[in-house]
Amino acid sequence: CGIVGYVGPRDSQDILIAGLARLEYRGYDSAGIAVIDSEGAMHSAKKAGKLAKLRDELVANPIASGTTGIGHTRWATHGGPTDVNAHPHLADEGKLAVIHNGIIENFAALKAELLAEGASFLSETDTEVAAALLGSEYRKSGGDLVAAFRGVVNRLDGAFTLLAMHEDHPNLVVGARRNSPLVIGLGEGENFLGSDVAAFVEHTRNALAIGQDQIAAIRPEGVTLTDFSGNDVEPEPFEVKWDAKAAEKGGWPSFMAKEISEEPEAVANTVLGRTRDGQVVIPELEGLDDLFRGISRIVIVGAGTAAYSAFVGKYAIEQWARIPVEVELAHEFRYRSPLVGPDVLVVSISQSGETMDTLMAVKEATRLGAKTLSICNTQGATIPRESDAVVYLHAGPEVAVASTKAFVAQITGLYLFALHLGRVRGTVPAEVQAESIDELNTLPEKIRWILENEQEHIEQLAHWMADTRSVLFLGRHVGYPIALEGALKLKEISYIHAEGFAAGELKHGPIALVEPGLPVFVVVPSPSGAPELHSKVVSNIQEIRARGARVIAIAEAGDAAVLPFADEVLRIPLAEPLFEPILAVVPLHIFAMGLANAKGLDVDQPRNLAKSVTVE
Ligand code: G6P
Repeated sequence: CGIVGYVGPRDSQDILIAGLARLEYRGYDSAGIAVIDSEGAMHSAKKAGKLAKLRDELVANPIASGTTGIGHTRWATHGGPTDVNAHPHLADEGKLAVIHNGIIENFAALKAELLAEGASFLSETDTEVAAALLGSEYRKSGGDLVAAFRGVVNRLDGAFTLLAMHEDHPNLVVGARRNSPLVIGLGEGENFLGSDVAAFVEHTRNALAIGQDQIAAIRPEGVTLTDFSGNDVEPEPFEVKWDAKAAEKGGWPSFMAKEISEEPEAVANTVLGRTRDGQVVIPELEGLDDLFRGISRIVIVGAGTAAYSAFVGKYAIEQWARIPVEVELAHEFRYRSPLVGPDVLVVSISQSGETMDTLMAVKEATRLGAKTLSICNTQGATIPRESDAVVYLHAGPEVAVASTKAFVAQITGLYLFALHLGRVRGTVPAEVQAESIDELNTLPEKIRWILENEQEHIEQLAHWMADTRSVLFLGRHVGYPIALEGALKLKEISYIHAEGFAAGELKHGPIALVEPGLPVFVVVPSPSGAPELHSKVVSNIQEIRARGARVIAIAEAGDAAVLPFADEVLRIPLAEPLFEPILAVVPLHIFAMGLANAKGLDVDQPRNLAKSVTVE
């Protein structure tokens, strides 16, 4: 869910709605705001559906304007996406408004307690329970909102960001966070709270991080930060480096289209400043040489697209740094008592740096004594803050829910890490370092070539395939995770059944799915760079062709061997085999977007998903 809060002299409605628009990627199945007017009265509006529905509602049934306000955009957990379940939730006879992100695990017990005291509830949400509890604590506290709020957060189990305001305190918004993000934006005579800096970056670049289990009280004249026991804590200021414009669509039909077009820069910016005298040197990791020499194993954790980038990264780390790498889905890692300890480096990979599953895996790794490294795209996010070291990708803000430019940046980041590690461990000869850096530096140009020469063709193909019901993706070696990513992207945004398989596994089962006309994408390795793999994949293509599949090959420009067997060839420029995934995935991103567009779907905000899932 996305959260925004404002105190200051301005009418807050527009500020809240604009903030929510920037946070909508965090969830978009309902939205709502509450404001306190100049007479000190609370007004709220909320609506199921995307933010546009709330905007329409506010035009049809305007609410009074007010300065202090809070806003929420929801990704449903407790209770379906209905008007009633949308936030804010009110309590204390409508004088108190609460919004929340996360899951309150002990809500049933708290609800029973409140029902016994005579409370009644309108919604099925855990949030309304927190609101009612705050109402009750507030009355007991004799009108001290911060103290009552502290009492409430101390009674909640689970993960949450909670914001509240009360008519009796018309210039105050209180917020707390536990395992769920919240940051403060500092303005002149006005202050902000947001799930991330996107909520307020158009008003201020001065921000304060809020630590785990802390409470912020923001007023127009200043902010205070305390822990859950009420002790003052020193805030950690940081400056937002993102350009507010970078998170705008700027003439593109969708954020996804814009972000695919930015894949070349995402790779280039991730490499920038990380090479020195023909070697990869990641400045953020200098000083960790002893750690890198001492570890015996690496485990990479992540979720969704990030986890697929990790699968690609494994090949590179093992090849260059000669150290065993396991990749594990973060949510599986955490709950199986993983065998990690001080000799293991747990690398987490996350675009947002907020994915709860990944955060919890990092915490578990720390608890078990492992060292942790975060590879992350979002500055100041929770996962890097909880890790021993961080390598930031510099892909720029990614807004579309389906990750594209962050994926190519993630692979690039993992490759840089692999080369850095290999240098420190003395496993990568100088000429391999130099050649790899050359490859990395030419990738942006090669991605641009695909966008310029193949995009139209791929979109046309997607258009013809708009009625397709099922698609398979095959790959070998580093092409295998790319097949998984191609299938995931298609599922996510075009709601088509899609599966990715290792091409070698085909004959062990999945080939039974092949029937005449079934489209199968095949990531074909380079014939010159990986001749052995290439000939195996060409054999796999023949096997599925013989059973009537329609083969769409992603192959190196000039690969004549696949031509007789493929119905379509999507060309990519020549690259060293290990670097091919960064190119081969580009046509798959374009294809998924093209197909969703052809079906008339919202490519930026696919149903049921959220970009950053901050619940487990
Ligand atoms: C969600 C998104 C995916 C994303 C995954 C991991 O499930 O819908 O697109 O790949 O989270 O996100 P992260 O921010 O941790 O990379």
